Amino acid sequence: MQSLINKQVILGITGGIAAYKSAELCRLLIKAGANVRVVMTSAACEFITPLTMQALSGNRVHTELLDEEAEAAMGHIELARWADLIIVAPVSANFMARVANGEANDLLATICLAATAPIALAPAMNQAMWSNQNTQDNLTSLKLKDMQIFGPADGEQACGDIGLGRMLEPIEIIEQAAKLFKSGALAGLRVCITAGPTREAIDPVRYISNHSSGKMGYALAQAAVDAGAKVSLISGPVDLVAPPHVDLVNVESAEQMLNAATDSPCEIFIAVAAVADYRPQLISNKKIKKIKDSMQLKLVKNPDILATIAGQKSKPFCVGFAAETENLESNALKKLKNKKIDLIVANHATETFNNDEASVKAYWHNGDRALKPNKKEKIARELILIIKELI
Ligand code: C5P
Repeated sequence: MQSLINKQVILGITGGIAAYKSAELCRLLIKAGANVRVVMTSAACEFITPLTMQALSGNRVHTELLDEEAEAAMGHIELARWADLIIVAPVSANFMARVANGEANDLLATICLAATAPIALAPAMNQAMWSNQNTQDNLTSLKLKDMQIFGPADGEQACGDIGLGRMLEPIEIIEQAAKLFKSGALAGLRVCITAGPTREAIDPVRYISNHSSGKMGYALAQAAVDAGAKVSLISGPVDLVAPPHVDLVNVESAEQMLNAATDSPCEIFIAVAAVADYRPQLISNKKIKKIKDSMQLKLVKNPDILATIAGQKSKPFCVGFAAETENLESNALKKLKNKKIDLIVANHATETFNNDEASVKAYWHNGDRALKPNKKEKIARELILIIKELI
């Protein structure tokens, strides 16, 4: 269930007696660490109240497609973009038909149409409705559209019938949802990631640093853990909590980061840190006083951590980042070659620093791939899959 931590999940509820189980599903999602926003169809509200779901999710429940108040806060497109995963449980025969046909006649169906996140449907209906050819045709069409179908289960139904059509139990739905993020792509591999800025001391109270937030490096650490890797995260000072199951090494200066990196044997090295290129040649052990009208600080070059690791005899698969303000592609390709690394991820420095979203293009020796602008968590998962393809 680890892989649901911090995932943004839309829990959709449609009209069916199994909707009472959605309350437990919501509770389990929250317990697994997910952020949950509930979207209910009008029929769902006949079976379970939005108030119950609001209390359990801790968020306002969304029910209307055309709701001025909701649109101002979070409208259907924002909700669709926000989601890392959409789980609809229970899914009625009617909702299956509507989604299979790409209808956008209520909020939940519209979100399913607008979302790029995976969509998991947990059908629940009478066994005769489930086995009806129309429903089975809709099922085939949904699978062709890459929708994940969870269940249904066999057994006794609310109407007294026995057969296929019961909604899976909430715990089973959670287990299947967690698997969607666990690609296992890097199972058994050691990944070392540098993240955040470095701080180069001038005196006991001052330093040189930069605006790196560490968000991309931390998102990659989470994605690598989800992919089954053993992850060391060597982090400069940031305001972030390390993902669970990550071996966190806190450092300040580039030299400390280099030492930690050389002490972390790995098969994949991902350098995301914005390492200061220079550091003061001398660090004053006393606070420097403002006596003169001007002062000069002599700087010396810092070691290139990525190039050092890539220069090792038995080097890991090395990934670098190129945050540039101009000539993105040529600068990225130059770094790929000069640092003798395997993959470089280029982005605009002004867009990426301290931002939750990124727009990147990955280059390797005989290929490249532009990723759609997206949240760093999603970009990180896509980059892990590219690394998996290349190693
Ligand atoms: O040379 P430049 O700083 O533009 O290269 C950026 C890439 O190299 C990033 O992946 C960064 O983490 C890494 N790097 C490093 N050590 C340095 C400078 C950059 O590991 N001293």
